[in-house]
Amino acid sequence: MPQRERYLWVCQNERPADHPKGSCAGLGSERVLKLLKAGVVKRGLRHRVRVCGSSCLDVCWKGVAVAVMPDQVFYGGVHVADVDAILDGLEEGSCIERLMLDGTDFDDPRGPLPQGPEVKGPAATNPATKDPATKGVEAKGPGTKSRV
Ligand code: FES
Repeated sequence: MPQRERYLWVCQNERPADHPKGSCAGLGSERVLKLLKAGVVKRGLRHRVRVCGSSCLDVCWKGVAVAVMPDQVFYGGVHVADVDAILDGLEEGSCIERLMLDGTDFDDPRGPLPQGPEVKGPAATNPATKDPATKGVEAKGPGTKSRV
């Protein structure tokens, strides 16, 4: 299979029912994942779209959370009833605005995390950018280890 145009990451993280953060699995994310996968196959989108389960996307208070990459779009509060609209959007190249999270949705209602170092984007470590400052640094996809 070729590299797809889009990858959907559907949070499958599960926590105990009484955990204060909640979890997407507790809100039905497994069913959402299965229906999205089946819908991609049924609509003949397998060569363009890949649907994967993921661990926590850290917007637990907005679950079920779905990340659409490389668009940098995050959907929250996704229910089974939203699956067809998401698949329609993938076919049309559009986003479902009513499900889209904005920057403030990522703020943990329990308070901010301590600030860490700035995280640089892929262009900073990808030799395909031909940036002399990164010459010799291996290109790695998201979630893989880098020598940086
Ligand atoms: S449990 Fe799904 S985003 Fe955290």
